[in-house]
Amino acid sequence: MDSIIVRGGRPLSGQIPIAGAKNACLTLMPATLLSEEPLTLTNAPRLSDIKTMTLLLQSLGAEVSSMQGGKVLALSSHGLNGARADYDIVRKMRASNLVLGPLLARLGEAVVSLPGGCAIGARPMDIHIDALTALGAEIELRDGYLHAKAPGGLKGALVPLRFASVGATENVLMAATLAKGTTVIENAAREPEIVDLADCLRRMGAQIEGDGTSRIEVQGVDRLGGATHRVVTDRIELGTYMLAPVIAGGEVECLGGRIALVEAFVAKLRLTGVEVTETATGLTVRRSGELTRAVDVVTEPFPGFPTDLQAQMMAMLCTAEGTSLLEERIFENRFMHAPELMRMGAEIEVHGGQARVTGVPRLKGAPVMATDLRASVSLILAGLAAEGQTQVNRVYHLDRGYEHVEDKLRAVGADIERVPGS
Ligand code: UD1
Repeated sequence: MDSIIVRGGRPLSGQIPIAGAKNACLTLMPATLLSEEPLTLTNAPRLSDIKTMTLLLQSLGAEVSSMQGGKVLALSSHGLNGARADYDIVRKMRASNLVLGPLLARLGEAVVSLPGGCAIGARPMDIHIDALTALGAEIELRDGYLHAKAPGGLKGALVPLRFASVGATENVLMAATLAKGTTVIENAAREPEIVDLADCLRRMGAQIEGDGTSRIEVQGVDRLGGATHRVVTDRIELGTYMLAPVIAGGEVECLGGRIALVEAFVAKLRLTGVEVTETATGLTVRRSGELTRAVDVVTEPFPGFPTDLQAQMMAMLCTAEGTSLLEERIFENRFMHAPELMRMGAEIEVHGGQARVTGVPRLKGAPVMATDLRASVSLILAGLAAEGQTQVNRVYHLDRGYEHVEDKLRAVGADIERVPGS
């Protein structure tokens, strides 16, 4: 498996282009299953998770081809040949469960393996199951697979979600576009990726209102057509690269960034002494003084502070002045980066869902292990300012969510390279 080697201590300067959102693309791609007509996605990120979703859709009989080096995806589901999402593909990526809603709506049945994905918690499927059951689906768990059927077709209903799950909102939103009558999703997730999905579905002919709020109303239609849609900017990649000059020093412009995508994150950054300026082309970021200050962070569903930026924020707070308290409220096991950061000299105490980080003047490079997608990149960020060399091993998770991380950071002056594994 490849490793990334970072030698710390170089201030950064220049521009980093931010790709289209992985998490948006992973729900836009299965939306093709809802229609016989082609769907074209532009600004797609080039990531291994996108390849996994491509394989999954192809296994169902959809056609997926990539153009312009993977930036454009042409999808078509006119001839589906199955409704079974196999364990071999699903175990690689939890987002595979996003074929469940569309398959049920289009074919009246779906057999989907229970997912795998990052080892950051139990991540059950109960909210998805309850939501689709409310639309009239019958769902059973057998042999590790969810067997779902809607013999008489799905019917619009009131669907209150116990928790504003992103994936469950996406699954039920897609399913409801072809259900008979009106569906109201209450306590819906409000993430920008949901709004992006709703925009794309509307282009395909769906009738949706209220996305971006906690109450989404969908008027079912008989069929959906084709569309071309540009994937929204990746707010997690954006937040990650915004932290690079904060940790390493210097100034970087993240191209394509907008404050509206990362408002809660920017508010916290400003409290630590970081200047963030919106430009015509993106967001410029730099530290206002030599040091940043500690700040407390609680992860929450959007518009709160995103759990997917918690590890990267922790890497930054390791060298901020004072003690920060980080509270993880979305996933129960998401501090696996803490012991790795401690190997670099960070002072962190973890108690259940809380981590107390006391800033030290400087981290020291060390060999560390990447445990999940966001943890991997937090270790690279930490390495940017650490003394000496940091070697991040087992970086395969990284390629699931960040395209060419070493090229993007090298282009703004970081001393970073990838060492191919055996
Ligand atoms: C999505 C994102 C992921 C992000 C997460 C939270 C994608 C592909 N992934 O994941 O990067 O970290 O949102 O912002 O978009 N839960 C249940 N039962 C369910 C579903 C979820 O208990 O049926 C729990 C989960 O265990 C977790 C919490 O709800 O603790 C949040 O999960 P959810 O919002 O569903 O996250 P994902 O859609 O899996």
